[in-house]
Amino acid sequence: MYPDVRPRRLRTTPAMRRLVAETVVRPADLILPLFVREGIAEPKPVASMPGVLQHTRDSLRKVVVEAVEAGVGGIMLYGVPLTRDEVGSAGTDPDGVLNVAIRDVAAEVGDATVVMSDLCLDEFTSHGHCGVLDAQGRVDNDATLARYADMAVRQAEAGVHLVGTSGMMDGQVGVVREALDAAGHTDVGILAYAAKYASAFYGPFREAVESTLQGDRRAYQQDPANGREALREVALDVAEGADLVMVKPALPYLDVVAAVRAAVDVPVAAYQVSGEYAMAEAAFANGWLDRERTILETLTSIRRAGAQQILTYWATEATALLRAGY
Ligand code: PBG
Repeated sequence: MYPDVRPRRLRTTPAMRRLVAETVVRPADLILPLFVREGIAEPKPVASMPGVLQHTRDSLRKVVVEAVEAGVGGIMLYGVPLTRDEVGSAGTDPDGVLNVAIRDVAAEVGDATVVMSDLCLDEFTSHGHCGVLDAQGRVDNDATLARYADMAVRQAEAGVHLVGTSGMMDGQVGVVREALDAAGHTDVGILAYAAKYASAFYGPFREAVESTLQGDRRAYQQDPANGREALREVALDVAEGADLVMVKPALPYLDVVAAVRAAVDVPVAAYQVSGEYAMAEAAFANGWLDRERTILETLTSIRRAGAQQILTYWATEATALLRAGY
């Protein structure tokens, strides 16, 4: 007549729920992506990402100090250059916006946080693709690898701790590892965007970096239909020397996160991308979702699926919520 087992007993009080919680998100798990724009005097809001700014060199330094003081685990830098060309020259220019930003941040916070940078050409090319194009206008894998090798060494010279290989070229992790080692940067690590899907959820990011992408990225990023293929991509990146592997986007790909976690022993990260952020922010603005609960539930779910490090535009805010005991 009465239930023999009562799972509700372990849910009776906040203290009881805390005692039996299986998943905890730590501030140190959270990585804050930041945009720095060349040639602006004041920080500039990104309309489709409320609360996110394109930073000036000064405002970048300030926001990084704030994030470090809040206790985030790391920051990921993206550069928005004033001029773009076919090969993305500004990406390998030691005085290009991203390399300058890395130097600024390294000088400001040193080893107090983990400084990461995007290793990809799309912010720097006039056509918006992640690599250089061949005569037919297709992204040329191997010619792009040579550009990535150069870019990695420049970012290492600027003082980055981890380079984020996000271009989805075959062999990119191996080539970057070799280039870093040959230049004496054996301690600079690789956060490999290993399973990166051709996703509609990157839309707001394109506004943030003012990319004018011609066409799409389906010839190099993964088809959302494919889960097993992610394991192959991850295995290749680990074999080539990836120190951490990442799945991206996060929430629509939690099955992939869980499968990757089960398959490898390196740390697994996930990227809660611009579209995931924009979607929730739009609902917050309308009063349709509760801000604090939604932010923490999404992060907890990504953590539960098996990702430890989470790139999220809410990193500083979430850190404050976690510290306040939410
Ligand atoms: C490539 C890169 C992209 C994002 C991170 N690195 C854009 C793309 O692949 O099209 C998207 C991140 C986001 O949407 O938040 N440099």
